[in-house]
Amino acid sequence: MTLETTRHLKHDTPDRDRRLDGMAQGVIGTDMDRPEGALKVSGQATYAAEAHPESMAHGYLVRAATIGRITGSNADAVRAMPGVLHVLEDERMIRNAAQGMAGESPVQKQGRSWYVGQPVACVVAESFEQARHAAQAMMVTIEPDGTHVFDAEAEGAEIETPEKKQVSQGDLDGAMASAAFSVDHDYRTPSMSSAAMEPHASIAQWEDGAVTLRGSYQLLRFNKNELADVLGVSPDKVRILSPYVGGGFGSKLGLAPEAVAAALAAKVLERPVQVVMHRRQVFETVTRRSETKQRIRLACDADGKLTGIGHENLVSQLPEETFSEPVAQGTHFQYAAPNRVVGHHIARIRRPAAGSVRAPGEAVGVTAFEIAVDELAKKAGIDPLEFRLRNVPTEDPETGKPFSSSTMEATLREGARRFGWTHTAPRQRREGEWWIGTGMAGAVRVNMMIEARARVVLTGAGVRVETDMTDIGTGSYAILTQVAAEMLGHAPAQVQTILGDTDLPPASGSGGSFGAASTSTAVYLACMELRERLAAKIGVKEGELTLKDGYAIHANRQTPLSEIMGEEEWRALGHLKPGRAGQDVRQATWGAIFAEVAVNDTTGETRVRRMDGTYACGRVLNLKTARSQCHGGMIWGIGLALTEALEHDPRDGHMVNRDLAEYHVPVNLDVPQLGVHFLEERDDWANPLQAKGIGELAICGSGAAVVNAIENACGVRVRTLPATLDQVMEGLIARG
Ligand code: MOS
Repeated sequence: MTLETTRHLKHDTPDRDRRLDGMAQGVIGTDMDRPEGALKVSGQATYAAEAHPESMAHGYLVRAATIGRITGSNADAVRAMPGVLHVLEDERMIRNAAQGMAGESPVQKQGRSWYVGQPVACVVAESFEQARHAAQAMMVTIEPDGTHVFDAEAEGAEIETPEKKQVSQGDLDGAMASAAFSVDHDYRTPSMSSAAMEPHASIAQWEDGAVTLRGSYQLLRFNKNELADVLGVSPDKVRILSPYVGGGFGSKLGLAPEAVAAALAAKVLERPVQVVMHRRQVFETVTRRSETKQRIRLACDADGKLTGIGHENLVSQLPEETFSEPVAQGTHFQYAAPNRVVGHHIARIRRPAAGSVRAPGEAVGVTAFEIAVDELAKKAGIDPLEFRLRNVPTEDPETGKPFSSSTMEATLREGARRFGWTHTAPRQRREGEWWIGTGMAGAVRVNMMIEARARVVLTGAGVRVETDMTDIGTGSYAILTQVAAEMLGHAPAQVQTILGDTDLPPASGSGGSFGAASTSTAVYLACMELRERLAAKIGVKEGELTLKDGYAIHANRQTPLSEIMGEEEWRALGHLKPGRAGQDVRQATWGAIFAEVAVNDTTGETRVRRMDGTYACGRVLNLKTARSQCHGGMIWGIGLALTEALEHDPRDGHMVNRDLAEYHVPVNLDVPQLGVHFLEERDDWANPLQAKGIGELAICGSGAAVVNAIENACGVRVRTLPATLDQVMEGLIARG
C-alpha cells in the first residue's frame, strides 16, 4: 500500500514541544560520519563531469576579449575544423550565473558582451581537445558600445542609491560631535571569488522534448526553473541531477553559462553534450563577491556605551543585475545605539557580475565593522571584550523587535574564557623578529528558513528520505539521515537518503545557511506524520510512543516495526512554509572569535598562531559536520584578512589572477589549530528542531580578529584588506 499524506507547517509561531529532545534513538547531535563519505573518498561518488553517456560530445566556451555589441564571428571557419560538430552562438546563452532565485533576478541573455571574459559562444566537437582547439581559434567580433568605468571609486562611475536600503535614525552627526570618543574611517575589502574546489560542469541530454542535466548546483528547484525559462520549455520538461557537489560557496546558487550551453547544444545535435569550465573560466563567469568601501562612524560616551553608528557602503555590480552585496546586514542589529545611519550605494561598472559569496553581507560587513569597534574600544581605553559586553543589544536596535534568542554575551564570555583572553597594549611581546599579539571580534549572521518539501518512506525494514536537497560538502546526507533515524527509531544504517534530483520533492536547496534548518524541518514533519500513523495503528497516542532500534515501545511492550508494518510501505510528505516566525522576531546566530598572530618585524609577514571560535547556532544536528563548517569559515576569515583578493585590470576590468595559483586561498601551512566550540541553545522560534544556520556564521568576524591581532602585535592598523606584507611593512616603517 502506498498512501502518501502530507503534513504542512506554516511557520508562524514558536514551537515549544522540543520533540527531538524526547526521542530515544540518540543519534541527533552526535559526530556521526557522513553516510556518503566512503563513496567520496573512494572515488565512487560521481560528480558532474564524471558521467559519460554514450556518444557524448564536448563543448568549450569562448570568452569575450572586449566589451560591446557582438556583430560577427569566424564561426564558418571554425565549423570546418577537425572534429567540430557545432558552433553555438545562440543569444539565449547567458552572460553570467543567474543569481539563484529565479524571479528575483532576471537571467541575463546576451547579444552583447557586458564584461571582458563573458562567454559569447560555445564550440562543440567530438573530443574535448578538438573543442578546446577550435574554441581558441574562434574570433568573435565585438564593436565597442561606449566608454566604461571599471572601478567603483573612479570618477564617472554611475552610482545608484536605492531608497529602501537607506536607514537614518536620530542624529548621527550630533552624536559624533558630542561623543567622548569616536572613529570615522574608510575600510576596504577586495573583490573575491567563491573558489569552490569542483569546477562547474554540465552534461545535457534530451529525450522526447525533455532535458536531463547533470550539473553541480546548490538550489535545484530554482535552477530547474531557470533552465526551463532560458530554454523556453515548461519546468516539467527539465530534470537536474546534482547528487554530489564539490563546494559552492554561492557560485552554484544560480545556473551558470556552461549548463545553458550544454542544454542548447545537446538539443541541436540530438546527442549528449558536456561542457566543463576550466578554472579560469569558473573565476570569470560565475559571480564574484563585490569589493566594498565602507565608511564606518562610531561614537561612544566616556563609559564606552555606543551613542552613534554609521555604516555607509559602496559596492559594485554590472548594469541590470538586481543583487548587491548587503554589507550592513549585520549592522542593523549587532549593536545598540540610538543614532544610526546605514547607507547603501551601488556603482554600475564593468567587472564580472557580482553575486552571493559565502555569508553575503556579513562576511565583509561584520569584518570591517568589528575592526572599527576594536579601534574605538582602544581609543576609549577599554578592553575590546569589555567594550562589546557593554553594548549588547536587548532587542533589535533598529526595529525594536525582540530577539528570538540572544547569545551574544554568552559567546563572548565563553570564547574569552576558552582562549584565556587578556588585554595588553600593542608591541608588548616579541620573539626574535616576531611581534606577538592577540585580537578578538564578535560574529553575527541572520538566520533564515525557506520553503522545503521532503518525502519519507517507512517500511518494516527501514526508512528512505527523498528530496531534491543538495549536499555541497556541508553534510546534508548526514543530518537528514540523523533526523529520520531519530524520529523513526532506526539506526542510521537503516536509513537511505537520496538527494540531488529534481524529480524528488523540492527542498530548500543549499544557500544562505538555510538548508539544514529548512529541509530538516520538512523531514521532521514527514516523520511526525508517520509516527502518528504508527501510533494510531498500535492504538496509543503519538506522544506515548517510543521508537528505537526498529522497535515500537509503548506501555511496557516492545513490538518490532517489521511486525507492525508487515509488507506495507508508508509514505509521507513534509512541507515547510516560512511564516511570521521569520518576521515577528529578529532571528540570528552569534559567535566570538579570538586569534593570536605573529608579525615579522623585518618582512611584515603575518602568521596566525591559534584561533578559537565559540558559536551559538541553535541545536547542532551533527557535531562533526557543524565543526567542519566552522573550520571552513574560520579559514575563510584568514583568507579575507591575509591573502585573498581578485585583481582587476584598471584598463578593462578583467580578472587578472583568475586561478588558484594567483588567487591565494589559505593553504594548510597558513592555518593553525582551530578551536571550535558550540554553545548549544534551543531557539524555539527557529523551527521545531531548534536548528539554525551554521556555515556562514564562522566566516563573519574571524578576519577582523586576525586584523585586530596584527594591531595588537605590532601597532599597525590595516583598513584595506587583505593585510598584505607591503601594507604591514609600510606601517612598521612609519612606526620606526
Ligand atoms: Mo551561499 S553564498 O548562499 O552559498
